[in-house]
Amino acid sequence: MSEFLTEIDALLAASEAAFSAAEDAESLEAARIDFLGAKKGRLKSVQKLLGGVPKEDKPAAGKRLNEVKGLIQAAFEASQQRIAAPANDAAITEAFDPSLPGATTRIGKLHPITQTIEELTDIMGRLGFSVALGPEVEDERHNSEALNISLEHPARDPLDNFYLSTARKNTAKNNTAPNNKNTAASGGATLIRSQTSTVQIRVMENTPPPIRIISLGRVYRTDEADKTHYPMFHQMEGLWIDTDVTMADLKTVLRLFAVSYLGADVHVRFRPSFFPFTEPSVEADYLWNGAWVEFGGAGMVDPNVLKEVGYDPEEVIGFAFGLGVERLCMRRHNITDIREFYRNNVRFLHQF
Ligand code: DAH
Repeated sequence: MSEFLTEIDALLAASEAAFSAAEDAESLEAARIDFLGAKKGRLKSVQKLLGGVPKEDKPAAGKRLNEVKGLIQAAFEASQQRIAAPANDAAITEAFDPSLPGATTRIGKLHPITQTIEELTDIMGRLGFSVALGPEVEDERHNSEALNISLEHPARDPLDNFYLSTARKNTAKNNTAPNNKNTAASGGATLIRSQTSTVQIRVMENTPPPIRIISLGRVYRTDEADKTHYPMFHQMEGLWIDTDVTMADLKTVLRLFAVSYLGADVHVRFRPSFFPFTEPSVEADYLWNGAWVEFGGAGMVDPNVLKEVGYDPEEVIGFAFGLGVERLCMRRHNITDIREFYRNNVRFLHQF
């Protein structure tokens, strides 16, 4: 009897040692087969020894055998759990070094021109101007004719515009060609707009006065790209139509705008100029760091334009202006090359 008990105690100790030495599921499974295997397991062989135990000792020996079976099974399960559990605390502490700098993520930013557009919209909004949008693909009526730009005007030269249909090209030199659908009255050609003044017409055609809008967006010209030119750029167009708008209002609006965008010490001056769609017309300059800088064109809306959209020039009057957005942003941030905006160089763009 004592021999049997010694045998099963030794078996228990050996199985516990083997299970706790197992480092992964495979070695634990090997240990399980070794001790608990249904056919050749060591527990099975020890169990067979029970037959040799004297009859009177059998109940006690059997009881102990059952206990040991339970303990071996428990030792196996404990190791099974240990292996299935994720890395223990010690391992976690080792892998995590709180003194390391955190992983950095670059957060995206709005493009500087988008930021400028948002700021201009905000400033003009405070002056009572709401935003109007117009298409970038335009017909000649909105890009030129209704703006009082005659067919002979150089602004309509095919070489200076991105015409999308050839109709315009056919008529540029030979206005009486038989396939000419593009008379001054019909505006058959389409182009990507060369100015945001187009939106003035679209708004006035669809809205009775009074009107106080700005329109910000892309315009296209066949300019060679250099430090100050780019074939695509942005303009802000402004239009205020009412019964008693004056040139003094125009100057006040442009001055308040320039002061808000550039700084309190900015002055604005007008120089006489010419635009087909305004009469009188001016170039507006502002005083910046001791020098006068041109920031756009402006004037009182030409009566011909008012008539074109069905307004009565005897009843309503107003002003319009058009400013270059890139130019303003370049002044403000001391950017010397307009091409930087469109090179998609993240190191440049991220500064704003
Ligand atoms: N459209 C003109 C340009 O692109 C700018 C301009 C001048 C707009 C006078 C106006 C204006 O509304 O009144 O050069």
